[in-house]
Amino acid sequence: MNKITLISSAFALVCSMSVAAEPSSNVAFDSATRALLASGDPAKGKEIAANNKCNKCHSENGIAEDPDDPNIAGQLNSYVYKQLRDYQDKKRQSKDMLKRTKKLEKQDLAHLAAWYASLPVPERMGKASDATLQLINKGDPKRMIKACNSCHGRKGQGGKHDAATLNGMSRGYFVTTLTEFKEGDRDNDIYSRMRNVAGPLTEAEIEALADYYATTPPPEEAEEE
Ligand code: HEC
Ligand code: HEC
Repeated sequence: MNKITLISSAFALVCSMSVAAEPSSNVAFDSATRALLASGDPAKGKEIAANNKCNKCHSENGIAEDPDDPNIAGQLNSYVYKQLRDYQDKKRQSKDMLKRTKKLEKQDLAHLAAWYASLPVPERMGKASDATLQLINKGDPKRMIKACNSCHGRKGQGGKHDAATLNGMSRGYFVTTLTEFKEGDRDNDIYSRMRNVAGPLTEAEIEALADYYATTPPPEEAEEE
C-alpha cells in the first residue's frame, strides 16, 4: 500500500465511522418490528387517520389533492411505518409531519401503516423514453447508478422493507424528494442507498423519472387535452 492509498483509506474509514455514529434512522426491520407491523389493523388505522387530521393533506383515500403532498395509498406498510418513525425522531425533517406524529405510539403508527397499505395504489400514467427506461431497468454503471427496479421491484411496486413503491407518486413531491436525496437534504435512507443513486442524476433525468412514475400524464400530453 503506498502513502496515498493509505491516507485515502484512513480517510474513508473515519468517514464511515462518523456515519455510523449518527444513524440515518432508528428503525431496524428486526423481528420485533416485523411483529409490530403484522399487528397493524387497517380499520384502527383509518380511525387514527381521521382523528389526527391526516386526511386534511393526504385525503381519505390516501391520494393527495395537492401534487406537492405525497400520495400514500398502496404504499408498503413497512415503508410508511419507517417514515412516520423517522419524522418522530427528526431523522426526516418536516414540521407538519413532526406535529402530526409526535404524540402517536408505535402501535398507532403500525395501524396507520396497515391502513394506507390497504388502499389501492393510484394508477401510473407516465411514459418513459428509452434513456429513462434504461435508468429504471439497468441503471448506469459508468456513473455507479443502480437500476431503480433492482430495489423498488420489477414493476416499481416496491421491494423489501423500506424500498418504497414508486408507482402512483405525486409528481411535484417525487421531484422534490429525489432532489433532496441528491443534495443530501433528505438523509434518512439507511446506508445512503438513495443518496448514492440520486447524487449523479441530472435535473432533467429526475423530471423524466417523475413523468414516468407520476399519476398525472407528462406536461406535453396534459397540454394536448
Ligand atoms: C398539514 C399537512 C399534512 C398533514 C396533516 C399530514 N401530512 Fe403526512 N405529509 C405531508 C407532507 C407535506 C409530507 C412530505 C414531507 C417531506 O417532504 O418530508 C408528508 C409525508 C408523509 C409521509 C411520507 C410519504 C413518503 O412517500 O415518504 C407519510 C407516510 C405521511 N405523511 C403520513 C401522514 C399521516 C399518517 C398523517 C396523520 C397522522 C399525516 N401524514 C398528516 C403533509 C401532511
Ligand atoms: C440500492 C437500492 C435502491 C436503488 C437502486 C434505488 N432506490 Fe429509491 N429508495 C431506496 C430506499 C431504501 C428508499 C427509502 C429510503 C428511506 O428509508 O426513506 C428509497 C426511496 C426512494 C424514493 C422516495 C419515495 C417516497 O415515497 O418518498 C424515491 C422517489 C426513489 N427512491 C426513487 C428511486 C429512483 C427513481 C431510482 C432509480 C434512479 C431509485 N430510487 C433507485 C432504495 C433504492
